[in-house]
Amino acid sequence: MPEPHVELASKTTTRLRAPNASDGAAMWALVHEAGTLDPNSAYLYVLLADRFADTCAVAERDGRLVGMLTGFRPPRDPATYFVWQVGVSPVARGEGLAGRMLDEVVARHPEVRFLEATVSPSNAASEALFAGFARRHGAPLHRGEGYGAELFPRPHGGVPHEPEPLLRIGPFASPRSSTPERSLS
Ligand SMILES: CC(C)(COP(=O)(O)OP(=O)(O)OC[C@H]1O[C@@H](n2cnc3c(N)ncnc32)[C@H](O)[C@@H]1OP(=O)(O)O)[C@@H](O)C(=O)NCCC(=O)NCCS
Repeated sequence: MPEPHVELASKTTTRLRAPNASDGAAMWALVHEAGTLDPNSAYLYVLLADRFADTCAVAERDGRLVGMLTGFRPPRDPATYFVWQVGVSPVARGEGLAGRMLDEVVARHPEVRFLEATVSPSNAASEALFAGFARRHGAPLHRGEGYGAELFPRPHGGVPHEPEPLLRIGPFASPRSSTPERSLS
């Protein structure tokens, strides 16, 4: 008869943490793996992982990154957390990882009361992610203009960039405690 502990002992743990410079290359690779994100230079991910670590998160499982979140607090509006990119490896999607990374970063900054992101209209998963965040934090979700398609280059007459309407969520309902590290199973 199988031991009841065997399944628990072999259960994979996903650890959320702030990144450091040595995560930048894996974050860059994850953006490419995620598929729908605009890939930026590897340098930029190293810089974000180092200089913006307190507003970024990575999810690590079995020694590899399966999720990453980048964002910052705009100097002119530090009560807002602006999400820049969030990506989860296809092998780890649908487990709530992206939502947990958002919660993790916001929990580190009790003075943050709003979250903003721009979301392409075709990105249903992203829409659902931010709607879920608003529900969990008991906060209203407002839509704004964001960045129109005309702002983006169209190299060689290629496919135009989708518009990036703004989502603004907040103010958050309740005070949050700081949880710098969390293990998920
Ligand atoms: C968007 C993304 C980060 C979501 O990651 P995830 O860890 O699978 O998301 P979660 O498991 O936390 O799910 C969040 C919500 O989205 C919903 N969802 C997930 N995938 C979905 C899909 N393909 N279509 C519609 N809804 C979806 C979930 O049901 C959940 O909704 P709920 O809170 O009402 O239950 C992931 O799909 C991804 O990496 N996509 C490619 C990159 C991208 O487009 N990033 C966003 C733009 S910056």
